[in-house]
Amino acid sequence: MLRFYCRFTFLFAISLVVSGCQKNTEQQKPFDNAAAKKRWNNKQHQWDLVSLKILENGRLLYIKNCGGCHGSSGSGDNLIGAPALKSNSFVTGKAAGYIKLVLEGKPKRAMPAFKKLDNQTLAAILSYERNAWGNNSYSLITPEQIEKYRTKVTDYDK
Ligand code: HEC
Repeated sequence: MLRFYCRFTFLFAISLVVSGCQKNTEQQKPFDNAAAKKRWNNKQHQWDLVSLKILENGRLLYIKNCGGCHGSSGSGDNLIGAPALKSNSFVTGKAAGYIKLVLEGKPKRAMPAFKKLDNQTLAAILSYERNAWGNNSYSLITPEQIEKYRTKVTDYDK
């Protein structure tokens, strides 16, 4: 019986340590305003705090969802056939076509559909790409814009 309790206590202690660690890794770092300003502000454009937060969030979301194929610095991947998003006139061009492409993907190519991501997430990612790596659009895509094209798209599952 004593052995049973020992073992139980031991396992309980281990699970506490493990869950403690998980909590730590999941915790978001506090927003670093100075680092964000340094990254995004320049002589041509100064972003407000809300926009800086969107761009920084977009950066993390881009790395998680798109960076694996398009590269963390937006330079694409020849092996996968993923074009560079840096200095890409499609990315910085009209928002409509770009939003639609990311929502629908290219079903017959390696570009996945991202309709599963919510409007805010997609708006942050697209805003990031349109301003990162010297793309410098100096404007953001809004969740409302994403919603508008989401409801227009009909051929999601083809
Ligand atoms: C599994 C790999 C993969 C992932 C992940 C991925 N893409 Fe792509 N993407 C591609 C490929 C491959 C193409 C080229 C499709 C083609 O052949 O036209 C592409 C094309 C594009 C294009 C068109 C570029 C152009 O010049 O025509 C855009 C924009 C784009 N992706 C944005 C994104 C965004 C935004 C994300 C993340 C939300 C993302 N991609 C995630 C593989 C990927």
